[in-house]
Amino acid sequence: MFKFRLCDLGGYAVMNILKVPLNSSSPRPRLPLCKGLTCMILRRFCSTKADNAFKKENEEKQKISVTFVDKDGEEKHLKVPVGMSMLEAAHENDVDLEGACEGSLACSTCHVIVMDTNYYNKLDDPTDEENDMLDLAFGLTETSRLGCQIIASPEIDGIRLAIPAATRNFAVDGYKPKPH
Ligand code: FES
Repeated sequence: MFKFRLCDLGGYAVMNILKVPLNSSSPRPRLPLCKGLTCMILRRFCSTKADNAFKKENEEKQKISVTFVDKDGEEKHLKVPVGMSMLEAAHENDVDLEGACEGSLACSTCHVIVMDTNYYNKLDDPTDEENDMLDLAFGLTETSRLGCQIIASPEIDGIRLAIPAATRNFAVDGYKPKPH
């Protein structure tokens, strides 16, 4: 109610600034625009605690929970922004996941195992290029993926990824597995 009054007042103030006569023959069509504009300005500059809380909650919603489990069973729980790859998330949070080619699909060192089939099924299908690289991965499983190709999205909130005990970088090691 109060906000509406402020908007009304603001609308007339803006009309005054724009020199729109209040008794002109066509003030009506302009009023909603002025009111809308004023409301936007008021909202922008009159942020309340509730607005800030809403903003924070929204930012939190843009992140998903991801758990990395290393070869010793140690878990690392992360909050990963939507749109970020699991490889990037691992590197930003000191998770011991290699990424020799830095996500250009030229190695298999970012191999991870999706621990829950339900989550695996929610991921986009791997491309032929990813499958080719996965074929070179050490300890390949039914739910193996490359960490650089898993992108955080709300659908996979809560995903758990196991890091295999060894990786194989064909370009460097040939077929010799390299322990972490
Ligand atoms: Fe090389 Fe993912 S980092 S394929």
